[in-house]
Amino acid sequence: MTQRKSFPEGGASWDRLKAEMDHLRADDLDWRHGRSPLYVFYNDPETLEIGKRAFMEFFSENALGRKRAFHSVQAMENDVLDFGLSLFSAPPEAKGVFTSGGSESILLAMKAARDAWRRQHGGDRGALNLVMPVSAHPAFDKACALMDITIRRAALTPDCRVDVAAMEALIDERTMAIVGSAPCFPHGVIDDIEALSSLAVARGVWLHVDACVGGWIAPFFAMNGRPTPAFDFRFAGVRSISADLHKFGFCPKPASTVFFRNGAERDQATFVAEEWPNGRFETSTLVGTRPGGSVAAAWAVLNHLGTSGYRDIAQRLAAMVDAYVADIEAIDELRMVAAPDLTIINFTSDTVDMALVADEMKALGWLPGMTRSPQGLHAMLSMFHDGARADYIADLKSAVSGARRNAGAKAGSEAVY
Ligand SMILES: Cc1ncc(COP(=O)(O)O)c(C=O)c1O
Repeated sequence: MTQRKSFPEGGASWDRLKAEMDHLRADDLDWRHGRSPLYVFYNDPETLEIGKRAFMEFFSENALGRKRAFHSVQAMENDVLDFGLSLFSAPPEAKGVFTSGGSESILLAMKAARDAWRRQHGGDRGALNLVMPVSAHPAFDKACALMDITIRRAALTPDCRVDVAAMEALIDERTMAIVGSAPCFPHGVIDDIEALSSLAVARGVWLHVDACVGGWIAPFFAMNGRPTPAFDFRFAGVRSISADLHKFGFCPKPASTVFFRNGAERDQATFVAEEWPNGRFETSTLVGTRPGGSVAAAWAVLNHLGTSGYRDIAQRLAAMVDAYVADIEAIDELRMVAAPDLTIINFTSDTVDMALVADEMKALGWLPGMTRSPQGLHAMLSMFHDGARADYIADLKSAVSGARRNAGAKAGSEAVY
């Protein structure tokens, strides 16, 4: 058992605290040099600095009080939500919510969908189900666990997009929503949202598009003329979209958005409590207190980069992904699991044990991202991976050779998120 630390006496100077933090982080992963396949997103030093400065300007403001005390935060939040609504071709009555991350955005969308189903069915509070691809993010599992909703998982087609016929077969009269991803995290492809939208309209169910990864960058891939499947409110069945600012919006954490086609449905999902001594308590988020800094930083980064900045990033990201794919495919034993729609790559092998490849990559100082089915390596690439490509590919080649040599050995690596 580890020794429990006693509460500190206090009085530690900044210099001492800083020294201790530096010591604590000494063996953290070197994400700045592309050694992490997920967790951190990066464009360039200027975007990072602008996000940090704007965050620090509003470090103490609480976005919970934006309506009554911090009108600046409210104004910036409105701008950010307007930018998203226009990016996703939302109708005039649509509305959004600024949240702490993809999981919260998804939870709010699922709650809105459940509440809408209940209203439509005369307040019926019986058991409901959600139909989603096997590749949809576990944030849906979490939301459904919290709300006692059963999940039905649809299989994928060989190109790793959800099989729309399989989705259809799982829908029944107690399906409160269906889901498509843009893109899904495991394989990096965008589901056929147009077909899912037609299905949603035909069956009268809510379609949520999880664009947590792609939302704030995919439109710029498309603007650059790169073939990128559409996923937004242009499809009539799309009722809500989650899109994370803190991923490919390159804004500081915690920051995400969720948008609702019908603004009234977003308002109905607002949480209101009246029965306590302080009077009416109302929030549109799961959390109460939340950082004003996140809102200011997102506002600053979006305004700083603008369309031209994001198009430039999209151009550079696309070139980098293409280069990674070409280099990986040039290694005989490896093949891509799917052709990436954006920046997530996933590759596998028919001849070597990818868990052994992962072991070798780990020994060479990379945090190996893995997928379980099919067993493969995985990375969500952003700009610091560009400079790391030559080293990564050289190490990958030697990792594949090592795995071949060790064939039959028991691998230590497992697919963990
Ligand atoms: C497709 C997808 N949806 C949702 C999420 C959850 O986002 P968060 O970690 O911000 O809660 C992720 C996280 O990577 C994701 O990849």
